[in-house]
Amino acid sequence: MALTLPAHPDPLADRIHASGLLPELAHGLGGPFHYLLPERFDANLAAFRAALAEAGVEGRVYYAKKANKASVLMDRCAAAGAGVDVASIGELRDALGHGVRGEDLVVTGPAKSDELLRVAALQGALIAVDAPDELDRLLTLGGPRPPRLLLRVHPPAQPRSRFGLDEAQLDEALRRCAAAGDAVRMEGFSFHLSGYAVRPRAELAAELVELCLKARVLGLQADRISIGGGFAVDYVPADAWRTFLAEQGPGHYHAGKSFAPEDFYPYHSPVAGSDALRAVLATEGTGGRSLAEQLRRAGVMLLLEPGRALLDRAGSSVFRIQGVKDRDGYGIVTVDGSSLSLSEQWFNSEYLPDPVLLTGRGGDPGQPYPACVGGASCLDSDLLTWRKIAFPTRPHPGDLLVYPNTAGYQMDSNESPFHELPLPPKVVIDLPDGGRRPRWRLDR
Ligand SMILES: Cc1ncc(COP(=O)(O)O)c(C=O)c1O
Repeated sequence: MALTLPAHPDPLADRIHASGLLPELAHGLGGPFHYLLPERFDANLAAFRAALAEAGVEGRVYYAKKANKASVLMDRCAAAGAGVDVASIGELRDALGHGVRGEDLVVTGPAKSDELLRVAALQGALIAVDAPDELDRLLTLGGPRPPRLLLRVHPPAQPRSRFGLDEAQLDEALRRCAAAGDAVRMEGFSFHLSGYAVRPRAELAAELVELCLKARVLGLQADRISIGGGFAVDYVPADAWRTFLAEQGPGHYHAGKSFAPEDFYPYHSPVAGSDALRAVLATEGTGGRSLAEQLRRAGVMLLLEPGRALLDRAGSSVFRIQGVKDRDGYGIVTVDGSSLSLSEQWFNSEYLPDPVLLTGRGGDPGQPYPACVGGASCLDSDLLTWRKIAFPTRPHPGDLLVYPNTAGYQMDSNESPFHELPLPPKVVIDLPDGGRRPRWRLDR
C-alpha cells in the first residue's frame, strides 16, 4: 500500500491549477519550471514583523537569500525595506543590484573571502565574524568607515557545529575590538542553530543579551543580537505525518530503499513561521522574564534571518511526465527534469509532500496507481521521489506533476545542468483580485 502525505490545502495553488496556466507554461517553456508567488513572501515577512511589534520588541528581519535565488525576492526585500542575509560575494552583489541597501545586509557564512569582507565593509553591511582570523582581517582592512560586526557564538548545545567562536575566542575577540577603539563597530553577537526547537533559541538568545551587557562594560556598542534562521515550516497535517512516520518502511519505496526517519525534514510542526518567533519571544528565562522582556530591559535589538519560513507556500515546481512503465506492482514515472531540482540530497532524504497530478484528461478517473518518480538522467539514483506515490490514476506522458511548496531550498539550492538539461526557469505569478486569470512573467 502507498502512503499518502498531501500538503495542507492551498486555495491560491488550486486557483492556479484550475486556470490552465501551468500546461501552457510547460508547453511554452518546453521543460520543467518553478513558479513563485511573491505576494506570499510579502505576507510571511509582514507576519514576522507583526510578531516583533506585538511583543514590543525592536527588531529586523533579514531574508536568508540562500533559500531561493529568485530576483523577485530581492525586489520585494528592497521595496519593503527588509534586510537580506548574504553568504557569498555573488549573493551580496545580487542584493545590492536589486536595490537592497548595504546597511540592510548581514553577511554570514564561514571564512569569508577578502573580497566579500572588503565590499561588505565598504557598503556598511553588518558582518557576522565566524573566526579569529576573520576578525584579524577586518581589523586591518582600512577603508573609509569602520566595519560593522557581530561576533558569532559557537552554540554550546551543539558542540559539533563548525561555526562560531568558542568562549576563549570570544573573550579575546572582545578584548581586540575594545582595543581597536573607533576602528571597528562591535554591534553585538549572533548564532544560527540547526533544527527548529524554540527553547534552545530563546535560551541562547538570553545568553547573548547578557554578553551584550558584558561587552558594553568594555565600551563597545553591543546593542543587537541575531538569532539566525530555523523557523519551521508546517507542510502537512499532524495526523498524516504521524501515520507516515509510524508506518513508512522499505516496502513503501522503489528498490526497497530505506530512510532514517530522523533524516526527514519535520514536515509537520505545530508551531511554525512567525508563531515560532512569537514562542521564542515568549519563552521565560530563569528569572521568570520572557525573552521579549529581557531584550527590552537591556535595550537590545533582535535580528533574525529566516529563509525557509519566509518562502512558505511561495512557490512550487512543475515537471512534465515523459514516460510511465510498470514494475512489480507499481509504476516508474519519469519526468523531464532531475532530482537536483528538488533538493533534499544533502540530508540523505527526499522531499515528502505529495506531488499533485494534473492530467487535463476528463472522463473515467481510472484506477489508483502507485508509482515512484525518476529523473530524465542515466543514473539509477536520480529519483525525485523514491516513495511510491498513491496517484489517483495511471499518469500519462504529457501530464504535469506539481511538487507543492518548494520555494524554500527545494527549487534551486542543488540545481545542476547535468546531461545538459537546462536549469528550470522561474516564473513569477501574480494573482489579480476579482478572480481574474493569473498573470505571469519570467524571473530575471
Ligand atoms: C547563518 C544562517 N542564517 C539563516 C539561515 C536560514 O535558515 P532557515 O532557512 O532554516 O530559516 C541559515 C541556514 O543555513 C544560516 O546558516
